[in-house]
Amino acid sequence: MRHGNIAADPGVGMKWHVIRLLWPYFLEFKNRVILALSCLLLAKLASISIPFFLKHIVDALDNADNIAQAIVAVPLGLVLAYGAVRFFNVLLNEFRDTLFGRVTERTIRRISLQTFQHLHRLDLDFHLNRKTGGLSRDLERGTTGINFLMRFMVFNIVPTLVEVLMVVALLLYNYGIVYALITFVSVVCYVTYSIIATEWRTKYLREVNEADSATNSRAVDSLLNYETVKYFTNEDYEATRYDHELETWEKAKRKNRLTLFALNSGQAMIVAVAMTSMLALAANGVAHGDMTIGDFVLINAFMMQLFIPLNFLGFVYREIKGSLANIEQMFELLNRAPKIRDKQEAPVLSIGKGSIKFDNVCFRYHEQREILSNVSFNVEPGSKVAVVGESGSGKSTLVKLLFRFYDTASGTITIDEQDISSVTQHSLRGSIGIVPQDTVLFNNTIQENVRYGRPTASDDEVAQAITMAHLDRFIDELPDGVNTVVGERGLKLSGGEKQRVAIARAILKQPPILVFDEATSSLDSKSEKAILEAMKEITEGYTSLVIAHRLSTIVDADKIIVLSHGKVAEQGSHSELIEKKGIYANLWEIQQQEATEFGD
Ligand SMILES: Nc1ncnc2c1ncn2[C@@H]1O[C@H](COP(=O)(O)OP(=O)(O)OP(=O)(O)O)[C@@H](O)[C@H]1O
Ligand SMILES: [Mg+2]
Repeated sequence: MRHGNIAADPGVGMKWHVIRLLWPYFLEFKNRVILALSCLLLAKLASISIPFFLKHIVDALDNADNIAQAIVAVPLGLVLAYGAVRFFNVLLNEFRDTLFGRVTERTIRRISLQTFQHLHRLDLDFHLNRKTGGLSRDLERGTTGINFLMRFMVFNIVPTLVEVLMVVALLLYNYGIVYALITFVSVVCYVTYSIIATEWRTKYLREVNEADSATNSRAVDSLLNYETVKYFTNEDYEATRYDHELETWEKAKRKNRLTLFALNSGQAMIVAVAMTSMLALAANGVAHGDMTIGDFVLINAFMMQLFIPLNFLGFVYREIKGSLANIEQMFELLNRAPKIRDKQEAPVLSIGKGSIKFDNVCFRYHEQREILSNVSFNVEPGSKVAVVGESGSGKSTLVKLLFRFYDTASGTITIDEQDISSVTQHSLRGSIGIVPQDTVLFNNTIQENVRYGRPTASDDEVAQAITMAHLDRFIDELPDGVNTVVGERGLKLSGGEKQRVAIARAILKQPPILVFDEATSSLDSKSEKAILEAMKEITEGYTSLVIAHRLSTIVDADKIIVLSHGKVAEQGSHSELIEKKGIYANLWEIQQQEATEFGD
């Protein structure tokens, strides 16, 4: 997938098959589409008839010898009809837009929703590898692409082609093969030239887009690092780098403009040659009395009418090509299969007491590096099991596997004797509550962030969870209380406050199994103690898995698992492990010493 502000590569051929992908969405409004197309056809007929009215009016005027006669000679009806046809032409086009707009919007709505739902269905790995900015651009470009395609395909390209054919046929019928041929050949030349010149320009246009997006990301990156720039007083350095990008953009723009000049003047040249030869022929016809002045006017009007929409052809061609590619990219996203899928007709997890069993679990994120090897342990229902181990030993990975964000390479994980890969992901995740290592909050109020644990919870229940997580004192100090908005990703709260919001969420969810991944690591000792008390209360009777660095917080665990380099090195209760004098005993000693030294 490509990212950044660069339209999907238009260098490859037109992707007409994309239209087929969109087809089913049109069918939802079949009648509307037919009606819109009828309006289109009628509008074209109206616009084709305009030059004829003009011709008859001019001829009538021409045949009159004086003004008085002219007024009589030009039937009022003809003039009125001319005006009416002009009006209807516009009106029909408006009808067409109004009718078809609905189809476009509904299509965009359907596809956007589908893509959104699909993105949530994709695995964690996909989301860790994506760039949010790039992804949302892909979506945006896809929907803009649909909009553009619908508008210009249906309302520009197709009608123009229809009009060209009609005009050529009319010229052939009324004035003979030469006129028809000149028109036809000049249109073919014009279209061919536009397409070739546009293809050639694409490279320069892409340069502009690339420079544009580079400039943009430089500016955004620099502003996001505002604090860092200030810490190192690098404002000038940043400005120079920014200006460097701007310079590239300026140069690219210049080249782009010159190529546009070439395209436009070439087009104008073809139009001029075609017009001149047609009018010369017509003038000759009038001089010889084969044609009336009205015919001359009619031919002129036809040519003008024909080349105006063609004027945009280069632009429309390029945009349609880009749109097709962008839409295709969006559909590719939709076709991406999630790595983690429910088995067919997978049952829901039926959870009783909530025992967990890791049986010989091996796991790696990448082929080359094993993160967990043959990890086996049991969590008895209703017990508290702690996992300790050095940073990077795979503790959080255990949790990700338990939530089935990834499948194990070998070995099984079971909850109440059911393999977690055989039950639905929805029921599995619904049964586990977690306070994650890094809590990210929605940019919403504290109240709504806590309620996220169970969206149907009442205000009272939310307030209770807040109290249990010891958030109430902090909230009381806030001018807006629970209605305080926490800022993007919750950055306006301190680390410890965020952790307490996460704890409140988990409390509100009331799941049979609770997981705490360093849930109190950002808290001071006093708050930690208070929360641990609260947690003890909450987890009473529940199965809980607690990951901790500070061993003092888990001495009361029924079992402690010491993870080292992805293997279970030791397991047992606190006193058993101390007696064993292994890794745990060693760690315990170090932490005890630190505690006395720093008075922690
Ligand atoms: N998505 C990922 N892709 C590749 N490697 C990963 C990914 N997530 C974690 N790792 C690696 O897996 C190893 C175990 O990570 P994990 O988060 O389980 O460690 P941890 O024991 O929780 O450490 P800490 O105590 O620092 O939180 C780390 O070396 C980490 O770099
Ligand atoms: Mg971790």
